[in-house]
Amino acid sequence: MNRIQSPVFIAGHGGMVGSAVCRRLAKEPNVRVITRTRQDLDLCDEAQVNRFFEEEKPATVIFAAAKVGGILANKMYPVEFLTDNLRQELATIHASYQHGVKRFLFLGSTCIYPRMAKQPILESELLASPLEPTNEAYALAKIAGLKLCQYFRQQYGVLFHSAMPTNLYGPGDNYHPDHSHVLPGLIRRIHEAKLAGDASVTIWGTGTPLREFLHVDDLADAILHLCELDNPPDWVNVGTSLDHSILTLATLVAKTIGFTGAILTDPTRPDGTPRKLTDTTLLRSTGWAPKIELEQGIRDTYQCFLREFDSGHLRSK
Ligand SMILES: NC(=O)c1ccc[n+]([C@@H]2O[C@H](COP(=O)([O-])OP(=O)(O)OC[C@H]3O[C@@H](n4cnc5c(N)ncnc54)[C@H](OP(=O)(O)O)[C@@H]3O)[C@@H](O)[C@H]2O)c1
Repeated sequence: MNRIQSPVFIAGHGGMVGSAVCRRLAKEPNVRVITRTRQDLDLCDEAQVNRFFEEEKPATVIFAAAKVGGILANKMYPVEFLTDNLRQELATIHASYQHGVKRFLFLGSTCIYPRMAKQPILESELLASPLEPTNEAYALAKIAGLKLCQYFRQQYGVLFHSAMPTNLYGPGDNYHPDHSHVLPGLIRRIHEAKLAGDASVTIWGTGTPLREFLHVDDLADAILHLCELDNPPDWVNVGTSLDHSILTLATLVAKTIGFTGAILTDPTRPDGTPRKLTDTTLLRSTGWAPKIELEQGIRDTYQCFLREFDSGHLRSK
């Protein structure tokens, strides 16, 4: 018997998280998945969203759509980061309530915790102190979506709740040369250094900051697990609670790629916060733990990267 209530609408199915959830749901018997491209359904358009819910009547909604971007984009377009995300969330959460959705899973992120959150970060750190200014608009929109789910649950008794993933990596990642996250950025730079026959690669900063990484397929598995719980937490961290220095990570990536040159650091570049780690006690207490070890995950991710790179379809926007 399948406990995921079908049909399932995956909002943002073409993105990194959404496509991982599609892959994971494909393994579930008797679950019908509904997807729409942005061209067919703009989630910012309330009327379109209502028509879609009226016609398709999903029982479960996994909300993996969002306007996302790096520090520069967030700094230049805070109006769009706040309004686009608020509009998508408001339209989809309201329509879900109005059309009797049984389960709504909203995607938050550990990047919406306060700038100086106590480490390792507990769920109770949300809104406990000021936000990180570089992505404040995005974080405000995400916090509003997460809180709206909590309020709907509290006021109307519906099972609307959220997951807070840590830094993700895996298939579908963004390899933009300047705007990508640390792990895809390292994969691209070290791969290109190997092709060019470079004697060394330089990583930004001292290499000492500690960061946590979760394979996106583990996240997809955790999302399904959460959707099967009768009484899930309103929001719950999803991570490994293991961290690695940036230098260790670069060394691991170089080993995977077969780059034998030196890895140099550049202490004149900013390091960012020294440590960012999530506390995952709450999720583990519900019976879920990640399965993909970092070394294996990087090997698989590099194979995906090579397929995309060699076919000229590397995602880099
Ligand atoms: N990636 C990470 O490391 C990470 C970590 C923690 C949390 N998360 C969270 O996970 C969620 C998904 O992130 P992601 O990395 O999967 O992002 P992504 O790869 O950029 O995917 C976002 C998806 O949303 C769609 N979308 C955006 N605006 C839309 C609109 N108006 N109407 C319809 N679809 C729209 C995009 O469609 P287009 O392709 O047409 O733009 C894309 O398919 C976000 O909430 C993010 O905060 C991600």
